[in-house]
Amino acid sequence: ACDSTDFIFSLTDSPVTLKILQSWAPRVSHYFDKESYTYVGHQIVIQESIEHYGAVVWPGALALSQYLESNQEQFNLKDKKVLEIGAGTGLVSIVACILGAYVTATDLPEVLENLSYNISKNTQNMNMHKPEVRKLVWGEGLHEDFPLSTYHYDFILASDVVYHHAALEALLATMVYFCKPGTVLLWANKFRFTADYEFLEKLGNILNTMILAEFPESDVKLLKVTVREN
Ligand SMILES: C[S@@+](CC[C@H](N)C(=O)[O-])C[C@H]1O[C@@H](n2cnc3c(N)ncnc32)[C@H](O)[C@@H]1O
Repeated sequence: ACDSTDFIFSLTDSPVTLKILQSWAPRVSHYFDKESYTYVGHQIVIQESIEHYGAVVWPGALALSQYLESNQEQFNLKDKKVLEIGAGTGLVSIVACILGAYVTATDLPEVLENLSYNISKNTQNMNMHKPEVRKLVWGEGLHEDFPLSTYHYDFILASDVVYHHAALEALLATMVYFCKPGTVLLWANKFRFTADYEFLEKLGNILNTMILAEFPESDVKLLKVTVREN
Protein backbone atom coordinates (compact mmCIF):
# COMPACT_ATOMS: atom_id res chain seq x y z
CA ALA A 1 0.00 0.00 0.00
CA CYS A 2 2.76 2.44 0.97
CA ASP A 3 4.51 1.63 -2.31
CA SER A 4 1.47 2.68 -4.34
CA THR A 5 1.37 5.99 -2.46
CA ASP A 6 5.05 6.61 -3.11
CA PHE A 7 4.42 5.87 -6.76
CA ILE A 8 1.65 8.46 -7.01
CA PHE A 9 3.75 11.04 -5.15
CA SER A 10 6.78 10.44 -7.36
CA LEU A 11 4.65 10.68 -10.47
CA THR A 12 3.64 14.20 -9.50
CA ASP A 13 7.21 15.26 -10.38
CA SER A 14 6.20 15.00 -14.00
CA PRO A 15 4.14 17.98 -15.22
CA VAL A 16 2.27 15.80 -17.70
CA THR A 17 1.20 13.34 -15.04
CA LEU A 18 0.37 16.14 -12.63
CA LYS A 19 -2.03 17.54 -15.19
CA ILE A 20 -3.66 14.15 -15.60
CA LEU A 21 -3.97 13.75 -11.82
CA GLN A 22 -5.48 17.23 -11.50
CA SER A 23 -8.05 16.53 -14.16
CA TRP A 24 -8.97 13.35 -12.34
CA ALA A 25 -9.42 15.04 -9.01
CA PRO A 26 -13.08 16.10 -9.13
CA ARG A 27 -14.25 12.78 -10.47
CA VAL A 28 -12.29 10.24 -8.45
CA SER A 29 -12.21 12.18 -5.14
CA HIS A 30 -9.17 11.74 -2.90
CA TYR A 31 -9.65 8.02 -2.32
CA PHE A 32 -7.53 5.93 -4.59
CA ASP A 33 -7.18 2.41 -3.37
CA LYS A 34 -8.75 -0.38 -1.41
CA GLU A 35 -6.71 -3.09 0.22
CA SER A 36 -8.03 -6.37 1.46
CA TYR A 37 -6.69 -8.24 4.51
CA THR A 38 -7.75 -11.39 6.29
CA TYR A 39 -7.49 -11.68 10.06
CA VAL A 40 -9.31 -14.01 12.46
CA GLY A 41 -11.14 -15.53 9.48
CA HIS A 42 -12.65 -12.20 8.41
CA GLN A 43 -11.97 -10.32 5.22
CA ILE A 44 -11.29 -6.67 6.03
CA VAL A 45 -11.44 -4.13 3.21
CA ILE A 46 -9.59 -0.89 3.92
CA GLN A 47 -10.14 2.26 1.92
CA GLU A 48 -6.92 4.23 1.67
CA SER A 49 -6.37 7.82 0.65
CA ILE A 50 -3.45 9.79 -0.74
CA GLU A 51 -4.17 12.74 1.50
CA HIS A 52 -2.66 11.92 4.87
CA TYR A 53 -0.15 9.77 6.75
CA GLY A 54 -3.04 8.18 8.60
CA ALA A 55 -4.81 7.10 5.46
CA VAL A 56 -2.58 4.21 4.45
CA VAL A 57 -1.92 1.02 6.37
CA TRP A 58 1.55 1.10 7.95
CA PRO A 59 3.73 -1.95 8.71
CA GLY A 60 3.14 -1.62 12.47
CA ALA A 61 -0.60 -2.11 11.91
CA LEU A 62 0.03 -5.35 10.01
CA ALA A 63 2.40 -6.60 12.73
CA LEU A 64 0.00 -5.73 15.56
CA SER A 65 -3.02 -7.24 13.77
CA GLN A 66 -1.10 -10.45 13.13
CA TYR A 67 0.10 -10.55 16.74
CA LEU A 68 -3.39 -10.06 18.18
CA GLU A 69 -4.72 -12.79 15.92
CA SER A 70 -1.98 -15.26 16.91
CA ASN A 71 -1.90 -14.52 20.65
CA GLN A 72 -5.55 -14.51 21.61
CA GLU A 73 -4.94 -16.58 24.74
CA GLN A 74 -2.19 -14.34 26.07
CA PHE A 75 -4.06 -11.15 25.16
CA ASN A 76 -7.74 -11.98 25.27
CA LEU A 77 -9.66 -8.94 24.04
CA LYS A 78 -13.14 -10.40 24.51
CA ASP A 79 -15.35 -7.84 26.27
CA LYS A 80 -12.26 -5.75 27.11
CA LYS A 81 -12.15 -1.96 26.80
CA VAL A 82 -9.70 -1.01 24.09
CA LEU A 83 -8.49 2.42 22.99
CA GLU A 84 -6.49 2.84 19.80
CA ILE A 85 -4.49 6.04 19.43
CA GLY A 86 -3.40 7.23 15.97
CA ALA A 87 -5.69 4.59 14.47
CA GLY A 88 -5.21 5.77 10.87
CA THR A 89 -7.22 3.55 8.54
CA GLY A 90 -8.63 1.56 11.47
CA LEU A 91 -7.28 -1.90 10.58
CA VAL A 92 -6.07 -2.68 14.12
CA SER A 93 -9.29 -1.40 15.70
CA ILE A 94 -11.33 -3.57 13.33
CA VAL A 95 -9.27 -6.65 14.29
CA ALA A 96 -9.83 -5.78 17.98
CA CYS A 97 -13.60 -5.53 17.32
CA ILE A 98 -13.59 -8.92 15.62
CA LEU A 99 -11.81 -10.31 18.68
CA GLY A 100 -14.72 -9.13 20.81
CA ALA A 101 -13.48 -5.87 22.36
CA TYR A 102 -15.31 -2.64 23.10
CA VAL A 103 -13.22 -0.42 20.85
CA THR A 104 -12.70 3.32 20.72
CA ALA A 105 -10.62 4.29 17.67
CA THR A 106 -9.10 7.76 17.77
CA ASP A 107 -7.05 10.05 15.59
CA LEU A 108 -6.71 13.63 14.38
CA PRO A 109 -9.92 15.31 13.13
CA GLU A 110 -8.86 15.18 9.46
CA VAL A 111 -8.47 11.39 9.60
CA LEU A 112 -11.81 10.58 11.24
CA GLU A 113 -13.96 10.50 8.10
CA ASN A 114 -11.97 7.74 6.42
CA LEU A 115 -11.44 5.98 9.76
CA SER A 116 -15.20 5.97 10.48
CA TYR A 117 -15.95 4.76 6.96
CA ASN A 118 -13.57 1.79 7.25
CA ILE A 119 -14.71 0.88 10.74
CA SER A 120 -18.40 1.00 9.97
CA LYS A 121 -18.03 -0.83 6.62
CA ASN A 122 -16.14 -3.67 8.27
CA THR A 123 -18.16 -4.03 11.47
CA GLN A 124 -21.77 -3.27 10.56
CA ASN A 125 -24.31 -6.09 10.73
CA MET A 126 -21.86 -8.21 12.66
CA ASN A 127 -22.31 -9.74 16.05
CA MET A 128 -19.79 -7.57 17.91
CA HIS A 129 -19.70 -4.57 20.23
CA LYS A 130 -20.34 -1.41 18.26
CA PRO A 131 -17.06 0.51 17.98
CA GLU A 132 -16.73 4.20 18.59
CA VAL A 133 -14.63 6.70 16.61
CA ARG A 134 -13.47 9.86 18.40
CA LYS A 135 -11.06 12.71 18.03
CA LEU A 136 -8.00 12.39 20.22
CA VAL A 137 -5.16 14.78 19.56
CA TRP A 138 -2.18 13.63 21.62
CA GLY A 139 -1.72 15.65 24.76
CA GLU A 140 -4.76 17.86 24.17
CA GLY A 141 -7.83 17.98 26.40
CA LEU A 142 -7.31 14.48 27.81
CA HIS A 143 -8.59 15.33 31.29
CA GLU A 144 -11.71 16.97 29.78
CA ASP A 145 -12.46 14.47 26.99
CA PHE A 146 -11.23 11.24 28.60
CA PRO A 147 -11.45 11.82 32.38
CA LEU A 148 -9.83 8.96 34.26
CA SER A 149 -12.79 8.80 36.66
CA THR A 150 -14.90 7.55 33.71
CA TYR A 151 -12.44 6.00 31.28
CA HIS A 152 -10.27 3.06 32.16
CA TYR A 153 -8.92 0.95 29.33
CA ASP A 154 -7.73 -2.65 29.56
CA PHE A 155 -5.68 -2.20 26.41
CA ILE A 156 -4.19 0.73 24.56
CA LEU A 157 -3.20 -0.11 21.00
CA ALA A 158 -0.76 1.97 18.97
CA SER A 159 0.93 1.18 15.67
CA ASP A 160 3.56 3.32 13.93
CA VAL A 161 2.66 6.33 16.01
CA VAL A 162 6.36 7.17 16.41
CA TYR A 163 7.76 8.58 13.18
CA HIS A 164 9.11 11.90 12.05
CA HIS A 165 6.73 14.42 13.65
CA ALA A 166 6.77 17.15 16.24
CA ALA A 167 4.31 15.62 18.69
CA LEU A 168 6.53 12.99 20.34
CA GLU A 169 6.42 14.68 23.77
CA ALA A 170 2.63 14.91 23.52
CA LEU A 171 2.48 11.27 22.43
CA LEU A 172 4.60 10.21 25.40
CA ALA A 173 2.33 12.18 27.76
CA THR A 174 -0.72 10.51 26.19
CA MET A 175 0.68 7.01 26.62
CA VAL A 176 1.57 7.77 30.25
CA TYR A 177 -1.88 9.31 30.85
CA PHE A 178 -3.77 6.19 29.72
CA CYS A 179 -1.35 3.57 31.05
CA LYS A 180 -2.78 2.96 34.51
CA PRO A 181 -2.58 -0.11 36.79
CA GLY A 182 -4.21 -3.00 34.92
CA THR A 183 -3.75 -1.42 31.51
CA VAL A 184 -1.57 -3.03 28.83
CA LEU A 185 -0.26 -0.82 26.06
CA LEU A 186 0.65 -2.79 22.94
CA TRP A 187 2.80 -0.61 20.73
CA ALA A 188 4.11 -1.82 17.35
CA ASN A 189 6.52 0.43 15.48
CA LYS A 190 8.90 0.33 12.61
CA PHE A 191 12.21 1.53 14.07
CA ARG A 192 13.95 3.77 11.55
CA PHE A 193 15.58 6.76 13.21
CA THR A 194 17.59 7.54 16.33
CA ALA A 195 14.54 9.48 17.53
CA ASP A 196 12.53 6.23 17.58
CA TYR A 197 15.03 4.65 20.00
CA GLU A 198 15.17 7.83 22.06
CA PHE A 199 11.39 7.72 22.39
CA LEU A 200 11.61 4.10 23.56
CA GLU A 201 14.24 5.07 26.13
CA LYS A 202 12.11 7.93 27.47
CA LEU A 203 9.08 5.67 27.68
CA GLY A 204 11.20 3.05 29.49
CA ASN A 205 12.22 5.65 32.07
CA ILE A 206 8.59 6.10 33.08
CA LEU A 207 6.84 2.79 32.35
CA ASN A 208 7.80 -0.89 32.09
CA THR A 209 8.66 -1.77 28.50
CA MET A 210 9.21 -5.27 27.17
CA ILE A 211 9.78 -6.42 23.60
CA LEU A 212 7.14 -9.07 22.83
CA ALA A 213 8.00 -9.74 19.19
CA GLU A 214 10.19 -8.55 16.34
CA PHE A 215 9.34 -8.62 12.66
CA PRO A 216 12.72 -8.46 10.91
CA GLU A 217 11.20 -8.32 7.42
CA SER A 218 9.65 -4.93 8.24
CA ASP A 219 11.94 -3.73 11.11
CA VAL A 220 8.89 -3.62 13.35
CA LYS A 221 9.20 -4.22 17.09
CA LEU A 222 6.16 -4.91 19.23
CA LEU A 223 6.33 -3.76 22.83
CA LYS A 224 4.25 -4.44 25.89
CA VAL A 225 4.13 -1.38 28.11
CA THR A 226 2.69 -1.35 31.62
CA VAL A 227 2.74 0.88 34.64
CA ARG A 228 5.58 0.41 37.11
CA GLU A 229 4.49 -1.33 40.29
CA ASN A 230 6.23 0.06 43.37
C1 LIG B 1 2.13 6.60 10.55
S1 LIG B 1 0.44 6.77 10.80
C2 LIG B 1 -0.01 5.16 11.43
C3 LIG B 1 -1.47 4.87 11.25
C4 LIG B 1 -1.93 3.49 11.73
N1 LIG B 1 -1.79 3.37 13.17
C5 LIG B 1 -1.18 2.40 11.03
O1 LIG B 1 -0.26 1.82 11.65
O2 LIG B 1 -1.49 2.10 9.87
C6 LIG B 1 0.41 7.77 12.29
C7 LIG B 1 -0.97 8.11 12.81
O3 LIG B 1 -0.86 8.98 13.93
C8 LIG B 1 -1.77 10.05 13.78
N2 LIG B 1 -1.26 11.24 14.46
C9 LIG B 1 -0.17 11.98 14.14
N3 LIG B 1 -0.02 13.01 14.97
C10 LIG B 1 -1.05 12.94 15.85
C11 LIG B 1 -1.45 13.74 16.96
N4 LIG B 1 -0.75 14.83 17.32
N5 LIG B 1 -2.54 13.38 17.64
C12 LIG B 1 -3.25 12.27 17.29
N6 LIG B 1 -2.92 11.47 16.24
C13 LIG B 1 -1.84 11.80 15.53
C14 LIG B 1 -1.85 10.26 12.28
O4 LIG B 1 -3.01 10.96 11.90
C15 LIG B 1 -1.81 8.84 11.78
O5 LIG B 1 -3.07 8.24 11.70
